[in-house]
Amino acid sequence: MKSDPAEPYGIDLKTLPRHVAVIMDGNGRWAKKRLMNRVNGHKQGSETVRALVTACREIGIEVLTLYAFSTENWSRPAAEVTALMALLKRFLRSERDDLDSKGIRLNVIGQKYRLPADVQTEIDGATLQTRNNTGMVLNLALSYGGREEITMAAKRLAEDLASGKILADDITETALADRLYTGGLPDPDIVIRTSGEMRLSNFLLWQAAYAEIFITDTLWPDFSKQEFLDIVREYQTRDRRYGKVVCTSNDGSQQ
Ligand code: FPP
Repeated sequence: MKSDPAEPYGIDLKTLPRHVAVIMDGNGRWAKKRLMNRVNGHKQGSETVRALVTACREIGIEVLTLYAFSTENWSRPAAEVTALMALLKRFLRSERDDLDSKGIRLNVIGQKYRLPADVQTEIDGATLQTRNNTGMVLNLALSYGGREEITMAAKRLAEDLASGKILADDITETALADRLYTGGLPDPDIVIRTSGEMRLSNFLLWQAAYAEIFITDTLWPDFSKQEFLDIVREYQTRDRRYGKVVCTSNDGSQQ
């Protein structure tokens, strides 16, 4: 019998997180510590991306969302923005076949239209090539901001209301969630932030309502598969109550 890949890592398949989201922070500090240019940190960070995508696919995560470029990141020095865009393009070009062979579907969340034309072309190619894959969804958040996303969804609701497609009573949490970039995908169970900062930084503001948050001091380029697996194991020990009270009776059964 074929053994499940998550089992050798001591991970319980019954409580595997469906969606893992990551704020990849600390590339600049990683480079600075080594007296290198910040771009070297981003380069090393894309190696970590590769390794984490592989690890998530291996253990059976359904959705991995990576915060690669925020709406605020456009105000970084032009040279850094250009270098990040070039890295993204290279990543998409070099990883496309590998993602496809692993059954991973690439999806971009964010303002794709603001990205350089050549990056958009790579995104379109990789998205098209992997569109029928069902093994895992890799969401790359590019020119992404949570507030912009919610505003965009509200605008879509308003348009549907104005055109008579929906009624005011049809405006529900589900109706709004369906119009987010992540429409149709489960909410993140885990949000990881590297480099010790304790902020959400406009990331998945709606979707992360009940996510378990993990902050690690590790800088993104140093974040390892080992540390990721530790987080998943710790997640499995947490008691997710979603604001409710779980009463346990004397015989140990849950009421
Ligand atoms: C934050 O670190 C990181 C980013 C703004 C970019 C993330 C990009 C990558 C990991 C590489 C490219 C991505 C892919 C998907 C191939 P920072 O620069 O803010 O670090 P600092 O806080 O130490 O300055």
